[in-house]
Amino acid sequence: MIEGDKHIRATPLHPKIGGKLDGIDLRENISDEVREEIHEHWMRFMVLVFPNQAISDEQHIAFGRKFGELEVHPSVAHRSSRNKEIYRVSNVDEADEIIPEETTSWQYLNLTWLWHTDSSFRQIPSLGSILHGIETTRSGGNTLFANLCESYDALSDSKKSEIQDLWVIHDHDYILSLSPELSKIPEKGDYTPMPQVRHPLVRIHPVTQRKSLFISPHTMVGIEGMSEKDGRGLLDELIEHATQEKFVYKHQWQNDDIVMWDNRCTMHCVEPYDNTTTRRIMHRVTIVGEEKPIPG
Ligand code: OGA
Ligand code: MN
Repeated sequence: MIEGDKHIRATPLHPKIGGKLDGIDLRENISDEVREEIHEHWMRFMVLVFPNQAISDEQHIAFGRKFGELEVHPSVAHRSSRNKEIYRVSNVDEADEIIPEETTSWQYLNLTWLWHTDSSFRQIPSLGSILHGIETTRSGGNTLFANLCESYDALSDSKKSEIQDLWVIHDHDYILSLSPELSKIPEKGDYTPMPQVRHPLVRIHPVTQRKSLFISPHTMVGIEGMSEKDGRGLLDELIEHATQEKFVYKHQWQNDDIVMWDNRCTMHCVEPYDNTTTRRIMHRVTIVGEEKPIPG
């Protein structure tokens, strides 16, 4: 693949976030040199799109492992039965049927429509995720990615000092309380129990050294030392600021796109689509974080 190394082409997809990489075949075992080149583009663009990559789950896992160890998600229902590292973000089950809307796994899936970063409920949240669009949608079902370094930089100096040393409480089960259906039932599905964790509201990226907001509306219960109302108010204000169009790339999926994002400086959500009739099958591997978020 030495020849190929010279042919990687990067094209920005948005002024602030996202780049497309052509000229790489992810079915092959990439060299360390190509891995380094991809990593450099990744750190610059935060979100990378690799079009036309018809890879198997095993090749997907092998590519993910080039960037670190892979997570096993706490939701048993969403894991592939063949590879525990594959998290199925899909409204179609392994028997190829659309999941009925009264099931907990369908309801859980709808929570990806809310802004979040992956695994923010962990002590050491995920470093990054790699998603393979296997069966993608034409109407709705795009994925939005927000650059949280840019939104931090754009805050006023007084807002930056107000949020400087704040810590946010994150809880996996908060996700469930946001679901109209799951919040009402005692049996919410089969999960490995996860205790609450605290993360800094402002973090420093270990590679680029840039400061960013660390917000994940999925799991944020409140701000330490603040009343519920004040904490919620500040978090909602920051979420609204961070999700303005100027900080957001919207990815319109084609089958066999691979999208790779950095969870340390971005958040994402799925645009609603009719998931009672439209099939959408995405497979994800999630790279384990290397350290706790560094307070900024
Ligand atoms: C994810 C997720 C994005 C999508 O895989 O982490 O939130 O497009 N889904 O399904
Ligand atoms: Mn996600």
